[in-house]
Amino acid sequence: MPDLPLDELPFQQQRPLSRRVLVTGANGLLGQTLSQHLGASSDYDVLATARDDAPRFDASDCEYTPMDVTAPDAVTAVFEDFDPDVVVNCAAMSDVSACDENRNEAWATNARAVKRLAKHCVDARARLVQLSTDFVFNGKRGPYDENARPDPVNYYGRTKLAAENAIREVGLSDWTIVRTVLLYGTAQQLSRSNVVLWMIDELSKGNTIHVVNDQWRTPTYVPDLADGIERVIDRDANGIFHVSGRDMVTIHELAETVADVFGFSSEPIDPVSSDYFDDPVDRPSKTGFIVLKAETELGYDPHSLEDGLRALGHELGVAPVS
Ligand SMILES: NC(=O)c1ccc[n+]([C@@H]2O[C@H](COP(=O)([O-])OP(=O)(O)OC[C@H]3O[C@@H](n4cnc5c(N)ncnc54)[C@H](OP(=O)(O)O)[C@@H]3O)[C@@H](O)[C@H]2O)c1
Repeated sequence: MPDLPLDELPFQQQRPLSRRVLVTGANGLLGQTLSQHLGASSDYDVLATARDDAPRFDASDCEYTPMDVTAPDAVTAVFEDFDPDVVVNCAAMSDVSACDENRNEAWATNARAVKRLAKHCVDARARLVQLSTDFVFNGKRGPYDENARPDPVNYYGRTKLAAENAIREVGLSDWTIVRTVLLYGTAQQLSRSNVVLWMIDELSKGNTIHVVNDQWRTPTYVPDLADGIERVIDRDANGIFHVSGRDMVTIHELAETVADVFGFSSEPIDPVSSDYFDDPVDRPSKTGFIVLKAETELGYDPHSLEDGLRALGHELGVAPVS
């Protein structure tokens, strides 16, 4: 067959169009995992963005450019250059205590920047997938489904709820709010660890850990969340989705499960009530999600907690024993 310019190739031989996906906060735990997950698929052209000059992970399957979501000019330039079909906003100030201590920065990052992204998405006719949290709820009646009424008990939760409300208000036709719970997983040079990595580290050294037995969550293995987000994009799913693990545990039970899966002694695990910690920030007691909507409408099928921990062990090169 003679060489033809691409636009003259017979229809069947043209490459399928890839969706152009802009990922913000791409150097964070979810951002790295998602950028690599989507980048590995020929269905997506991924532009990973974060505050740093360079990616902290192997970005060979995607493009990378610096972008601070609180810098209006930088955001405008990236939208003009890349013209995304989908924006997944993984950028956030996700440390609950830091949000309480630095409220202006938390609001600028978690609320105001999201409204700006949403307006850009209106102009670009792009879908906005916004990551949100179980901390929009007060923790009195978990596990929660998507119809439950938000009522945040701390500033972080308020900023995340404000972002959700902004997205609903700016007139976007394609938007998805993906709420998730207590992420665990691994990535490169993370600016903050996560509770499971911390437990593995401490228990492997035999150090005593104090863990609360009065806060319930449905911990989420980050690759499961990345898979759930891909399903949202693939199906053009609108609205709110709860995307977390299925297993509801206290933080103490989580530590016991980590010890069990990795063969650490549970002797140094000290169950305490929340009062043990002199924490000035309120945290919801019983959150956790019902993921039935994601299962039914997206085909979402997360690992069990034990299987997720085993998979993490393989990623870390720490052999699980059970
Ligand atoms: N982690 C959880 O347990 C959890 C639970 C429920 C919901 N969520 C939500 O899930 C999403 C992802 O969380 P994650 O665990 O991946 O958080 P993460 O590891 O802290 O990642 C967030 C990333 O956003 C970046 N960022 C902060 N401000 C920025 C700005 N102005 N411009 C660009 N990037 C900025 C951070 O950069 P630096 O690395 O430079 O700080 C960080 O890399 C967030 O929306 C979070 O609220 C998380």
